[in-house]
Amino acid sequence: MAGTADTIAAAKRAAGYRAADMVEDGMVIGLGTGSTVFYAIEALSEKIREGLSVSGVPTSYQTAIRAREYGVPLTTLDDSPILDLAIDGADQIDPQHRMIKGRGAALTREKCVASAAFQFIVVADEAKMVPKLGGVVPVETLPFATTTAMAQLRGLGCRPFIREAVKKDGPVITDNGNFIVDCHFDEIANPGELETAIAVIPGVVESGLFTRLVGNTTIIVGSEKKCSVLTSADVVP
Ligand code: 5RP
Repeated sequence: MAGTADTIAAAKRAAGYRAADMVEDGMVIGLGTGSTVFYAIEALSEKIREGLSVSGVPTSYQTAIRAREYGVPLTTLDDSPILDLAIDGADQIDPQHRMIKGRGAALTREKCVASAAFQFIVVADEAKMVPKLGGVVPVETLPFATTTAMAQLRGLGCRPFIREAVKKDGPVITDNGNFIVDCHFDEIANPGELETAIAVIPGVVESGLFTRLVGNTTIIVGSEKKCSVLTSADVVP
């Protein structure tokens, strides 16, 4: 049963706060994008006021703005190419801990930052846990090559649509100056193969399929009452 807005917020808050507890003094961390990560930033802000020393690489303008508001010092992948851990949200997580991300159109920077980290901490409410990945896979594309990329994406069995902005006419423009193509799949038989097949299409910058980081991933699943922490040992074979 779907939770109410309050119970979902409580679950996200629980997961975000638990992730912040994993941050140790002196760490450089990745800061993902989305409402669940924002609770981790809120919790980190309290810890920084109490003396924790930490800096973060933001994965979006939205996260950078939020982190500055909350007093979290920022750095870049140029200055800190290796991160101790990265905290991020997800849209869907399957029993093998493969994910779909990108509702917020930040998937490319999110994948760069997650890949730069020793540990990828994913924070999610329990509604994000699904038996099988499916539905929409967001794909960031170069505007110059979006039409040809869409033809090739269609060949992978999806219906691709350029994501439309809400408070702007025309397409969503990502923080990297690109488009998002939302690819509607009836079924994703093999998420790992699909991630590779999308990645090799010219004009594709990155997809929201995250299937290759499972070994370093810890998932914090928040519910109204508790948090469960899942590691690679909990992956269903
Ligand atoms: C943004 C993302 C988000 O991390 C994902 O959509 C989860 O967001 P939320 O925590 O708000 O549910 O991938 O591109």
